[in-house]
This record gives sequence, C-alpha cells and structure tokens, in this order.
Amino acid sequence: MNQHLDDRLKFLRAFLANPRQVGAILPTSRWAVRDMLDLGDVPNAKLVVELGAGTGVQTGELLARLGPEAELVAVEIDPGLAELLAGRYRDPRLHVVCDSAENLDEHLDGRQADIVVSALPYTSFAPALRQRILDVLPRIVAPGGAVLVIQYSPLILKELRRRFADVRVRMSPWNVPPAVLFACRKPREE
Ligand SMILES: C[S@@+](CC[C@H](N)C(=O)[O-])C[C@H]1O[C@@H](n2cnc3c(N)ncnc32)[C@H](O)[C@@H]1O
Repeated sequence: MNQHLDDRLKFLRAFLANPRQVGAILPTSRWAVRDMLDLGDVPNAKLVVELGAGTGVQTGELLARLGPEAELVAVEIDPGLAELLAGRYRDPRLHVVCDSAENLDEHLDGRQADIVVSALPYTSFAPALRQRILDVLPRIVAPGGAVLVIQYSPLILKELRRRFADVRVRMSPWNVPPAVLFACRKPREE
C-alpha cells in the first residue's frame, strides 16, 4: 500500500478511536498546508512548534522549508501517531513530543518559538481544555513571531482576537472541508 493511502487509513483509525481529539477524517491537503505555512516566515525561524502533528503533513513541509540550524518541536497526543512521526522523519532538527499541547511549557525550557503551527481541533474540545491550550499560545510565541492556526470554521476567531491584537484570516478552498487559516502576530517588544 502506498504511504499516502496508509497514512489516511491510520488517520481515519485514530479518528474512529477518538473523534473529538482528532477532529477530522482526513489529513490536511498539501495545498492547505502550503497556504498555511506561506503565512509565516518559516525559512528564517530558529524554533518552530507544531501542535497536533497527526501523520506529519505540516511536519514534512516545515522540515523542507526550515534552515539547517533550525529546530522543530512537534507535539502529538496520540502515541501511535507520535511513533509514526518519529520513525518517518529521521531528521536531527525534529523533536517529537508525545503529550498534550497544554503541557508545552514543560518541553520548551522557557524558550519561545518564532512560529507556532496549530492544527488542533479547538471547536471539538471541551471548553476548559480549549481555554487551557489557547492560553498557552501567547506565552510560547516570541515577540515578532506568529501563530498559524488551521480550522474548519471561523468560530475560534473571537478567542484568538482576545489573545492577539493582530489576527488575519484567509480561506484555503482546496481541502476537505475547505480550511480557514488564521495568522496571529505578536508585536515586537519596544
Ligand atoms: C485535525 S488533526 C490534524 C493532524 C495534521 N496536523 C493534519 O493537519 O493533517 C488534529 C491532531 O491533533 C492531535 N491532538 C488532539 N488533541 C491534542 C492535544 N491536546 N495535544 C496535542 N495533540 C493533540 C490529534 O491526535 C490529531 O493528530
């Protein structure tokens, strides 16, 4: 079986086992991944954090765009998917963390990311978990950095605007379902 189909089956199995945690039946399309990553300056980032890496569609594209000295911390709560990621990308720049994004502070040793990429299904989380993870975002992004979020509805916009003064929204139609992309920028310190 080719890798693409195999990944889709693994993703679907993860969804069937835990639909609210996975939040989608298919991985993000490569067009939506590119549209999303085009919203941030990935090639000049030193540290990138990815939340909800799944089968690694953003992970692979991030590694392709990142510089040789950069670091990518990919967080995935599902142990099977985290194992798949760690085995697939044997790249010294990648650190796969199998944990919940709400515990991210523990894995960054006080560092802040230039870019945070989030594919977490916020609207299917319980409200308390959603708030805990959203509260982590402004803490872990560096001044001048950006949090890039992909969702299937604009419902999260209000929550993002409560945490970031500068949030831009765009659609990425070539995805099932069409994706809504948010770029949340943290101002540089004066
Ligand atoms: C919609 S899928 C996105 C997967 C992949 N990034 C993509 O775009 O195809 C959401 C992913 O987030 C993971 N996830 C859900 N809750 C999480 C949490 N609290 N912390 C880290 N990962 C989580 C799920 O296991 C799933 O792999």
